[in-house]
Amino acid sequence: MLTAHRATALSGTIRVPGDKSISHRALMFASLAIGETRIAGLLEGEDVLRTAAAMRALGARITHDAPGAWRVSGAGLGGLREPEDVLDMGNSGTAARLLCGILASHPIFSVMTGDASLRRRPMARVITPLTETGARFAARAGGRLPLAIEGARDTLPLEHRMTVASAQVKSAILLAGLNARGITRVEEPVPTRDHTENMLRHFGAHVRVTRDGDGTVIELTGQPILRAADVTVPGDPSSAAFPIVAALTVPGSRIRIEGVGLNPLRTGLFTTLREMGASLAITGERTEGGEPVGDIEVAAAPLRAVDVPAARAPSMIDEYPVLAVACAHASGTSRLRGLSELRVKESDRLAATAALLAANGIELEIDGDDLIIHGTGQHPPEAAPCKPTWITAWP
Ligand code: S3P
Repeated sequence: MLTAHRATALSGTIRVPGDKSISHRALMFASLAIGETRIAGLLEGEDVLRTAAAMRALGARITHDAPGAWRVSGAGLGGLREPEDVLDMGNSGTAARLLCGILASHPIFSVMTGDASLRRRPMARVITPLTETGARFAARAGGRLPLAIEGARDTLPLEHRMTVASAQVKSAILLAGLNARGITRVEEPVPTRDHTENMLRHFGAHVRVTRDGDGTVIELTGQPILRAADVTVPGDPSSAAFPIVAALTVPGSRIRIEGVGLNPLRTGLFTTLREMGASLAITGERTEGGEPVGDIEVAAAPLRAVDVPAARAPSMIDEYPVLAVACAHASGTSRLRGLSELRVKESDRLAATAALLAANGIELEIDGDDLIIHGTGQHPPEAAPCKPTWITAWP
């Protein structure tokens, strides 16, 4: 049972936990590099700890020194050892899919599993392209975990045009390409987060990105020498999204969030909130470990409805549930387009978001892959006091 109380104004300065996407990559890529990498600000959530455990099982030496501070002594590219036991990636799709790329290009045998949610998620999207490297996969029906992988002895470089906008799939292909001789080429009609490209460069790989209309072409030169390179993990913009929407919608609020990752392929929510009338002030912009970072200040503001194009989905894919809350407060009807990928996340996030809105008395419709939200326009200071909400059943 969950009880909600009316909030008082939010004020102050906060930091949010380290970026999850970057944390996984820091542990993985440092494990493939020669030398010792120091990581600061690592997210120490369950998903990232699964990646640390898997990389240890594959031969990297990983030490936890203090909160957020980790050291990784890499096994070197191509130097991973065969794991003695099944690799359990828990709930993490990012860990499982990126690791498939790494395992496909090492001549070792491995078996990967995950929790009940991960075992239901589609893996064919990585298995199908990675099979072209020469690796062999045996999976459950429908390409589900558990999965057995026999990595390629002589990895072939791939040329792949993305059919689903997924940074996880793109990253798996690029990571397999690290061990292939020649150029691995990925065409992305709709660009997705490019942390893999940025961080591989940071570790010394040659990654070339060119624009192709609205999309991009990424070319990775295989068999680079990856060298240890310290990483400071920025605050996760996906975590910052929650206090930002809270501050926008609770009367009298004004907050500042320091050290947030501002990669333009992650900030679709900020663009959308600005279109809704929010003013997000960004200061102290800097680059850390190849990633843009800055401080965000936001205050409560009346919001208006928005029409979010499907092409923006990859840059805010994890933010739709909290955007839906902002839309519920806005005046007018919002349409969030092209949300099919939300159905194959850890849970069906489209259904869960609809249930959340409905439980709070918000009118909504799902039209194909679009979510339509009829905003209440109840905004501070006119907003009626929130009624406590009891959610007795979660879908
Ligand atoms: C991620 C990519 C996205 C995102 C996930 C993290 C990543 O998934 O939803 O939380 O770190 O590459 P998809 O690539 O499946 O869209």
